[in-house]
Amino acid sequence: MSEQSLLLGQTLAFTGDPFHLPIEDSARHERRGAVLVADGRIADTGPADVLRARHPKAAVTDYGDALITAGFIDSHVHFPQTAIIASWGKRLIDWLNSYTFPEELRFNDPDYAAEIARLYLDLTLANGTTTVASYCTIHPESVDAFFSEAQRRKLRAVAGKTCMDRNAPEGLRDTPQTSYDQSKKLLAKWHGVDRLSYAITPRFSPTSTPEQLAAMGALWAEHPNCLMQTHLSEQTDEVAWVADLFPQARDYLDTYESHGLLGSGGMYGHAIYLTDREKARIKEVDAALIHCPTSNTFIGSGLFDMGGLKAAGHRIGLATDTGGGSSFSMLRTMAAAYEIGQLRGNPLHPAQLFWLATVGSAQSMRMDDKVGNLSKGLEADLVVLDLAATKATEQRAAQANDFWESLFPTIMMGDDRAINAVWIDGKPTR
Ligand code: GUN
Ligand code: ZN
Repeated sequence: MSEQSLLLGQTLAFTGDPFHLPIEDSARHERRGAVLVADGRIADTGPADVLRARHPKAAVTDYGDALITAGFIDSHVHFPQTAIIASWGKRLIDWLNSYTFPEELRFNDPDYAAEIARLYLDLTLANGTTTVASYCTIHPESVDAFFSEAQRRKLRAVAGKTCMDRNAPEGLRDTPQTSYDQSKKLLAKWHGVDRLSYAITPRFSPTSTPEQLAAMGALWAEHPNCLMQTHLSEQTDEVAWVADLFPQARDYLDTYESHGLLGSGGMYGHAIYLTDREKARIKEVDAALIHCPTSNTFIGSGLFDMGGLKAAGHRIGLATDTGGGSSFSMLRTMAAAYEIGQLRGNPLHPAQLFWLATVGSAQSMRMDDKVGNLSKGLEADLVVLDLAATKATEQRAAQANDFWESLFPTIMMGDDRAINAVWIDGKPTR
């Protein structure tokens, strides 16, 4: 028989969507729970005493009062922006030109790309994030560096070459043909290898000609099971620029739609200034919107309409958008989502925040049958959270009247000190 591990602690699993069901019907919390891990998968969950009796030979790791959940899933990041995170004072287009593009130029060096991929994944794992969807740079070397490092760590991960053929500096531009050829080659090399998947990645409409968007659309049509990730309606200046660049387009989404880049595997980052037509089309094809709250405040973009979009039935993931976002932590990202909800008169429940950072992001990446929840059969990527990791959270949690009240202080004030352990593919990482 294969080796079995039994993890004991508080446990949290989702049985439904807390935006659509009462909290008590959508989440299951065990005060003293257990997770059985075997062959890299979650083999059983339930009360600790029941699972101990059922699996007497399993090797026990007792995490005490700590909370065991699915690892966090960050559905929109730029690993090459690790070194320029928290760069001061610019809004989107100036921020790209001043900080991002000069840094991304460095990724033609495979050694530098490998160094930053290592550093980035060290930081995300230290923050309890077990799966990310990352943009790379225009350089195929950056994609190889990211996937090689993710593969070495046995991570489930998504990434793609970021394609741009205009409005970017010399050295960061490809062409419709080279972007197609290089993306296709990388897709063939990495998609479906171990736990890795390729995402076709046109950066955003301002940095692609219509010809490049069409080339990306053609590649997606050849590989419809791949994800496609891009940016949509993040800042008002950007939306106006897109209208200038694409005078024929009905709206920003149409610049993608008319080039074959609207579909169910589409992941559209930010999506703050959507028209009714755009919302209706995205809903119709069941594409995903990715909420990047620390980025939307840090770059000064605006307030995502979580309440309205969830009520309309949209598929929504949560993401740091590192390094436009100001954190590697999905706890900090949940806190920012809460604050933006408050500014819109819609305080999100801790269950909703946690659901977004796990199941919601997994759904947005079409991976909720593989990761993102504490349920039998899913891959065993887990995070163990100490809800009393600092004096601040400890004293507040001590006053809590129920589980959600004990969790919320760690959502709002927690950071990597709250990450007690991380399990990847059924094994502890440290
Ligand atoms: N829009 C196009 N590229 C980017 C990027 O790198 N970060 C963010 N936040 N928005 C973008
Ligand atoms: Zn982004």
